[in-house]
Amino acid sequence: MNPAPALTAVVDIDVPGPTISRHLYGHFAEHLGRCIYDGFWVGEDSEIENIGGIRADVVEALRSIAIPNLRWPGGCFADEYHWTDGVGPRDERPRMVNTHWGDVEENNHFGTHEFMALCELLDAEPYISGNVGSGTVKETSDWVEYLTRAGDSPMARRRAENGRREPWSVKFFGVGNEPWGCGGNLTAQQFSTLARQHATYARNHGENSLYRIAAGGSEDDYVWTEVLMKQLTRGLQDPSPSDLYQAISFHCYTMSGSWMDKGSATEFSEEEYWTTLARAERVGEILAGHVAVMDAYDPAKKVGLVLDEWGTWWNVEPGTNPGFLHQQNTLRDALVAAVHFDAFHAHADRLRLANIAQTVNVLQSMLLTDGRRLILTPTYHVFAMSVGHHDARRLPVNPVRAGAVHEADGREVSTVKVSASTKDGTVTITAANLDPTSSAVIELHLRGGDGGVITGAQVLTSADPRDHNTAEDLDRVAPVPFEGAVWDGGLLRLDLPAASFVSLQLSA
Ligand code: AHR
Repeated sequence: MNPAPALTAVVDIDVPGPTISRHLYGHFAEHLGRCIYDGFWVGEDSEIENIGGIRADVVEALRSIAIPNLRWPGGCFADEYHWTDGVGPRDERPRMVNTHWGDVEENNHFGTHEFMALCELLDAEPYISGNVGSGTVKETSDWVEYLTRAGDSPMARRRAENGRREPWSVKFFGVGNEPWGCGGNLTAQQFSTLARQHATYARNHGENSLYRIAAGGSEDDYVWTEVLMKQLTRGLQDPSPSDLYQAISFHCYTMSGSWMDKGSATEFSEEEYWTTLARAERVGEILAGHVAVMDAYDPAKKVGLVLDEWGTWWNVEPGTNPGFLHQQNTLRDALVAAVHFDAFHAHADRLRLANIAQTVNVLQSMLLTDGRRLILTPTYHVFAMSVGHHDARRLPVNPVRAGAVHEADGREVSTVKVSASTKDGTVTITAANLDPTSSAVIELHLRGGDGGVITGAQVLTSADPRDHNTAEDLDRVAPVPFEGAVWDGGLLRLDLPAASFVSLQLSA
């Protein structure tokens, strides 16, 4: 006899919902620790295979997960970054001290041209973060002109002198970063005045149309969001948003401890495991809070919500520079990502962009570099297994029998998660079992169409949620074919191992 299902749900194949933008699977690269230097950039003379100084294996790995966008140069670094320092001959570029991150010297060898070349190699949209904290409105204006203006203009000529005649296409432009903290210690009122000025002069040149993103609050700071909605869009009297801003962002990190002692990336108890997942689950509530505020001012959902920094933040790897934020990445991190993606899909009609922090060697990375070796983290694999959701239409998953819950950190955590979407006649299903000790069965009744043939089924799991990949053990946590998906009398049955993430396609 089959065990009782942990969740039974109906998936309405013929009622597709909003499109899940591929940009919800975006990334972030800051001049922090070994993210840029050693991560993306090794320089043209490196013995490590590179394309014009950019690590070839990193490019290949990120192309394999269809990286949709990359945010740069920060983070807190963005508000100390003066873009003119990062153009022109590399050996003549001014140096600076990266006071935020490790107090190390920054040689500016990776600048605008190198970043845009990286985006071209990745086939990803650049997301440029402008400097409001210590930058001027003129710097913002000139940078946008330098990047995007064709023909003959002072900045277009300067760009051509530096080797690039054609303008680049830049869609996403962020104004400020954490202005309530490292980005200037401003109030929401003060920031909105500055943000209006910067956005005014971040012009659309020619055909290039910017998607301007105003830096938002931290976690559940709904007041910040409300002030920006009032000050940067036209407000309740006229529900159509002004042309100044297309989106408002916020940041939300996950840890099992406090900001002073965040917890270890690899050494954690079962209780800390559950606390982490309970805190990750909070992102759904926080998204709902920001959405509710925005709905009051913009019921037509024209202004986008952006979560441009999310992910786990642990105590740094012992023995590494505390300012470099280097941490390992276990199966627990992968499941945190799965919890976030479920919440992102649920809010796909308002959430337009999200960026995990950060791509290489910093915080919840996709990739860790160790000399010539490249380590794909468990989180990387969740991104890889979710590509089917990119630009697909969300399908409703309606529980018939509620899923199992576990109480942790003062909340009830749903231990099983399911997302479904459809694109080009193929249904993608992803599911997670957060329970670290018990397997879980999910039964899905796919209503409104033929179920289809199960293809590409994969599972990511391991004996212990603390398991992770190292240079000596690259595939300890890596996806393998999944045999636990079967059609059972019209029901799709998924038999998920403990602590696992599964993805599959149903093709007609
Ligand atoms: O991602 C690391 C840092 O976290 C960013 O620089 C900052 O925006 C946030 O506090």
